[in-house]
Amino acid sequence: MPNATIPSSEVDLFESEVILDPWETYRELRDLGPVVHLSDLDMYVLPRYDDLRAALLDDVNFISSKGVHFNDLVNEASRGTTLGSDGEAHRYLRGIVGRPLSPRALQDMEPYVGGVSRSLVDVALAGETFDAVPLLANAMPTTVVPDLLGWEEEVRPKLFGWAQAGFNASGPTNERCMAGMSKVGEMLEYVKTVADERRVAPGSLSAKVFEAADRGEIREDQCPALMLDYLAPSLDTTASALGAAFMLFSTFPEQWQILREQPDLLPNAINEVIRWQTPIRAFTRVTTAAVEIDGTTIPPEARVMMLFASANRDERFWEDPDAFDVRRENASRHVGFGYGPHGCLGQGLTRLESRALFEELLGRVERFEPVGEPQLAVNNVIRAYESVPVKAVLA
Ligand code: HEM
Repeated sequence: MPNATIPSSEVDLFESEVILDPWETYRELRDLGPVVHLSDLDMYVLPRYDDLRAALLDDVNFISSKGVHFNDLVNEASRGTTLGSDGEAHRYLRGIVGRPLSPRALQDMEPYVGGVSRSLVDVALAGETFDAVPLLANAMPTTVVPDLLGWEEEVRPKLFGWAQAGFNASGPTNERCMAGMSKVGEMLEYVKTVADERRVAPGSLSAKVFEAADRGEIREDQCPALMLDYLAPSLDTTASALGAAFMLFSTFPEQWQILREQPDLLPNAINEVIRWQTPIRAFTRVTTAAVEIDGTTIPPEARVMMLFASANRDERFWEDPDAFDVRRENASRHVGFGYGPHGCLGQGLTRLESRALFEELLGRVERFEPVGEPQLAVNNVIRAYESVPVKAVLA
């Protein structure tokens, strides 16, 4: 039961209309208080920036090893991943999974990712108008990540659908979640077979997981979960950010113009896109003890929603939070990659993919013009465009 001083809300954050246009609902939650009880899910939510950031730092009171998803089945299935572990075990796994994604390792990937960008942009710009989501936003990670994962060719067309289904399955047990579950089952089955048969390309991220097992750094039975750390969060997250960037640059051409004049702002612009879009809108934690936040107390053993997307639009922290501004000075302080001990391990890779793609486009495109309504997909956890039709006016 909610603490008497914690405000309660009956809003359903997983209703299609709220998923498609959540911003006013998030504002109402922020105005209700630093902690709000969601009666529909019997769960607490942290909608404000400061309190969310503090909770993300506190992995003793807010743990991940009871799962960060919204239902028991997926929380159980994701046991053993870096995302779903705590304490010493988490730090150890994070070291292993993070090694091939370190700045040094990513530097070696730059020429390859640059080459992928050039080929994708060549194809997209061959038509005067094109849909930037399938041709660029989705194509970038669905080319790069499978190459890095080193899995066989036949499975590649399935990966994006699996990752998308994974984010639906992550939600509360609604229809989208149930539809996602069966594909997640297929994905888990496949990952297990890859681990059993070790059918992966030499030098790939997956091969490095097996090498860690061979060196005795991890147990053999931990390999599937660690490969999931690379697959599940790496495709439609990046695609979401890139798709949003095309929507934003075509809707606000002056922002593209600023970037063309000051290309050094590109890393900041990428942060601003992540803040504005927040591809993963929320994950959860479970409290280990009664936790006091601004005078209200969340009971122990409570599931708490970390609403990244609301924090990234909190007017208590951000000036003019709904505006997209590539020059925003504190854009890098967003929580779109989480924050603290579980902060995104793949953000360097995503930044590399985004930088390479937009560096290529900044040299070749004077402006993007919208040529149709952008369409958002309805997913329990990922906020992503499925279509952003644009015309590219060449430089
Ligand atoms: C725009 C792209 C991306 C976004 C928005 C994103 C977002 C996030 C967020 C919000 C978290 C924190 C979860 C939490 O606190 O519970 C996270 C963690 C994580 N991400 Fe990403 N991610 C992106 C790309 C990637 C990529 C490309 C990879 C892998 C190659 C990746 C791998 C991971 C892993 C392994 C974790 C778990 C880290 C830990 O628990 O210590 N992510 N990501």
